[in-house]
Amino acid sequence: MDAWLNLALVGECLATRYVGRNLLYLTQTPSTQNVARAEAERDAPEGTAVLAEEQTGGRGRLGRSWVSPAGKNLYLTLVMRPPAKHLRILSIVAPLAMAEALEEAAGLTCRIKWPNDVLVGGRKIAGVLIETDLAGAAVKYALVGMGVNVNFDAAAESEIADIATSVRRELGRGSREEVLAALLNAFEERYTDAQEGDAAFRAWRSRLETLGQRVRATLGQRVEEGVAEDVDAQGSLLIRRDDGSLVTVEAGDVTLRA
Ligand code: BTN
Repeated sequence: MDAWLNLALVGECLATRYVGRNLLYLTQTPSTQNVARAEAERDAPEGTAVLAEEQTGGRGRLGRSWVSPAGKNLYLTLVMRPPAKHLRILSIVAPLAMAEALEEAAGLTCRIKWPNDVLVGGRKIAGVLIETDLAGAAVKYALVGMGVNVNFDAAAESEIADIATSVRRELGRGSREEVLAALLNAFEERYTDAQEGDAAFRAWRSRLETLGQRVRATLGQRVEEGVAEDVDAQGSLLIRRDDGSLVTVEAGDVTLRA
């Protein structure tokens, strides 16, 4: 049996003003996204964190599932209330904060696969799922779900062994408390940065391993293929097609092509 998260230790390392200060800690839930949505509907303060030891129906992007075994990893959702003009910074801030937290707490070198997968040595260590509720053009709330593989034996999960990793797989050990506190600290700092200037955007862009690579981007039925040339200030991917035209892809999934 893995030890439960030591919340006192997390608290000692927490340097935030509001992110993670209201924290709901659950032993098991279908998805922290659902609990966070209920909290948001009840006017939970911005920065509320919902954290679970286990998810029985963890969700990934694009309808995928997120493997969420008990006591191993971090599964959390933050309730955020950005102004509409800053909504898209969340998909830059979240992967950047996870990459910086894994570097600070574990010394891992992290890259980002556009838009928001965090990779170590080409394998995915963390992912982001953002769900938003709008009232007309205004943002009621955004749910920033983050899954970080800390003590998970990714090599033993046959379906994802080749594409997933964890802090433990990389280093032989991992502290969920240290990664969690570093993540909440980095998230608040980068969320502020991203609203004030371009430091967060530049830091995210410099970690993108996708740039300069030949890619296929898929969004529903739409498929774009070419060279990932750059990202624009909104975080969209700019792909140079083989016919020389440039296309902007706002969201979706990319696969690297040889
Ligand atoms: C992805 O890379 O596909 C996104 C994964 C997001 C997983 C997290 S774990 C906490 C939150 N609750 C969920 O059900 N999903 C997100």
